[in-house]
Amino acid sequence: PSTLHELAAAQGKYFGSATDNPELPDAAYAATLGSEFGQITPGNSMKWDTVEPAQGRFDFTKGDVVTDFARRHGQTVRGHTLVWHSQLPGWVSALPSAQVQAAMKNHITAEATHYRGAVAAWDVVNEPFNEDGTFRTSPFSTAMGSDYIATALRAAHAADPAAKLYLNDYNIEGLGAKSDAMYALASKLIDEGVPLDGVGMQAHLAVQYGFPYAMRENMRRFADLGLDVAVTELDVRMQLPTDATKTAAQSSYYRQVVEACLAVARCVGVTVWDYTDKYSWVPSTFPGEGAANLYDGNLAPKPAYDAVRTAL
Ligand code: XIL
Repeated sequence: PSTLHELAAAQGKYFGSATDNPELPDAAYAATLGSEFGQITPGNSMKWDTVEPAQGRFDFTKGDVVTDFARRHGQTVRGHTLVWHSQLPGWVSALPSAQVQAAMKNHITAEATHYRGAVAAWDVVNEPFNEDGTFRTSPFSTAMGSDYIATALRAAHAADPAAKLYLNDYNIEGLGAKSDAMYALASKLIDEGVPLDGVGMQAHLAVQYGFPYAMRENMRRFADLGLDVAVTELDVRMQLPTDATKTAAQSSYYRQVVEACLAVARCVGVTVWDYTDKYSWVPSTFPGEGAANLYDGNLAPKPAYDAVRTAL
């Protein structure tokens, strides 16, 4: 039987998974990561606090482990992420505003240069928006206003002209105020000639919140701007304990995301935010919730896995 990635690749897409360094010594985990998926995203190891914990002191060790795993398994890598308000070392927040732009450019240049050839696409800016579509406050927006986004994209393009450059956010999967804001930003950047290749929709879904409204139509409007679209961090959590109703809803949500991507030519692929409940970020972030992934804690495929296979 073919893998999720082979099924996706037959339709011109990839099927990927996030991963993280502490999981890779788990041989059974790594075997499935290396065989079932055609793309991987480091869950933490390319973030600012890991890569540049002190100003000008770069450490690419953990990210290199991930790109090396990908190379050995014939997988592409999504770089995650160059500029984000979270997992940002304290020294950045402590900089005088006048020094933030230079520090941001230096960080982007060093990291994107280091991973040239190993990273196919970058989440250049992660989570720029608040829920109401206003720009989120961060050291970057405080120092540069929303211009930091164009500046970041230009710096990434200069460092790695071949990488596909993305803006990535959550709760932009469906039509709504936040996706309208991303759409307006993307349109403006394109008009201004800023290098932007795609929009990443994280897709951290929860059965108790419903499926995003009109995901396919939303993807299509970004595609119509000439952009690629990627589902970058898919998982579907639920309040524990699980039951048949929640499990069925979860399978349906996974299926609908895959169907939306398959229906939109410019949707390049789907990445799950790790493939197993064993290593999910959900239980520690959303107390009382879990069971969000395609495989259970014993690495056995769940109904959602079958739903994805069937959709592919
Ligand atoms: C999460 C990781 O999975 C966790 O291990 C970490 O503790 C916090 O960050 N959106 C993102 C990802 O863009 O970087 C986040 O990853 C999940 C939400």
